[in-house]
Amino acid sequence: MPETPDSTPQPELFTWEFAADPYPAYAWLREHSPVHRTTLPSGVEAWLVTRYADARQALADGRLSKNPAHHSEQAHRSGRVGIPGERQADLMTHLLNIDPPDHTRLRRLVSKAFTPRRVAEFEPRVQQLTDRLIDGFATRGSADLIHEFAFPLPIYAICDLLGVPPEDQDDFRDWAGMMIRHHGGQRGGVGRAVKRMRSYLAELIHRKRADLGDDLISGLIRASDHGEHLTENEAAAMAFILLFAGFETTVNLIGNGLYALLRNPGQRALLQESVARGEKELLATGVEELLRYDGPVELATWRFATSPLTIGGVEIPVGDPVLVVLAAADRDPARFAAQNTLDLARKDNPHLGFGHGIHYCIGAPLARLEGQIALATLLTRLPDLTLAAEGAELRWRGGLIMRGLRELPVSFTA
Ligand code: HEM
Repeated sequence: MPETPDSTPQPELFTWEFAADPYPAYAWLREHSPVHRTTLPSGVEAWLVTRYADARQALADGRLSKNPAHHSEQAHRSGRVGIPGERQADLMTHLLNIDPPDHTRLRRLVSKAFTPRRVAEFEPRVQQLTDRLIDGFATRGSADLIHEFAFPLPIYAICDLLGVPPEDQDDFRDWAGMMIRHHGGQRGGVGRAVKRMRSYLAELIHRKRADLGDDLISGLIRASDHGEHLTENEAAAMAFILLFAGFETTVNLIGNGLYALLRNPGQRALLQESVARGEKELLATGVEELLRYDGPVELATWRFATSPLTIGGVEIPVGDPVLVVLAAADRDPARFAAQNTLDLARKDNPHLGFGHGIHYCIGAPLARLEGQIALATLLTRLPDLTLAAEGAELRWRGGLIMRGLRELPVSFTA
């Protein structure tokens, strides 16, 4: 049976209604125009790829470059693609903007420092941060879980992991706040925030070089591959992209994940019972399902055709931007049974929430750890958590790449 009947009109994209629930529009695109040329709100023309098989193929296609210099419109020059405020050339050379062989070299070096073992050893610290944040509102009976929980947890976690001293972490919280508001379409201060973060990181790297410790920045400085090291600029750009890529994404995993659980009481009860029994399995498959069902990254970051190619039978001209719609691919009924149902125990779940191919998320182990601890602890400590607003009452940040709530008001027994 078709997902949407032929008579259904083409839905409008990028409106506020679309931001609140883009899934019906993506179902239409998958069915009627799976590789779809559109004009983005910024005025840039781009292709949207919405079917799972096409999305997976495009994410791993070496003819699609991550380097904005390949964009025919050169729109990046006016700041219309890429990270806001990152036009300082040294920050541009991060993993999401480069191709092999540079990408291979940098990724190998960062992988030596950002190891699964380092993340696993970080578990008690994430638990401590989570408990401290919940202590801040647990006796009040109500909270905004975005501002008081989902937002600060990843920023403090990444700062700790990188080795940003505790007394400087609130500056990072402020800078990150400006960046996230910018992503949500609100102007002001982002260029300044990125600049300050950039010069702070440069100075921190300089200081660490003289006095290496156990933290990730020291690990980045130490990492060597066949005698090669990261330069100071490369280390700063790496620390920046780890912060940038690991922050808003994790805010959204916790925010979207809690929202989905609170709207699916049967699934939430199953998870709460399983966590109370001390089990780990449903928590692990549950976080994967939340990444598939309403994941933090709606569209993978920009790719540009460097030679003629076809995706799903559609020819993409050289220089055209391609945006892979992870949120659409992860609800493709050709790959996922009961695609619109939240099933925390789902086993066959090769979702694209962390991407695919050489740019696959390097922070996935940390994101999983934070997501699992945050959800399990909140549901255990505040077992009667309920939504204080939903549907049209809630605002979503309107950015292009990320999908996340601006606020998530809840109430509970104090
Ligand atoms: C790449 C998702 C958390 C660091 C990516 C990509 C996705 C993604 C989809 C690929 C983008 C593309 O191909 O265009 C997520 C989600 C997260 C998360 C859903 C949270 C739930 C993190 C964390 C970190 C991180 C915690 C680090 C602390 C990175 C980096 C890349 C990346 C550095 C670029 C890798 C490369 O280009 O080789 N992430 N991410 N991410 N992520 Fe994550």
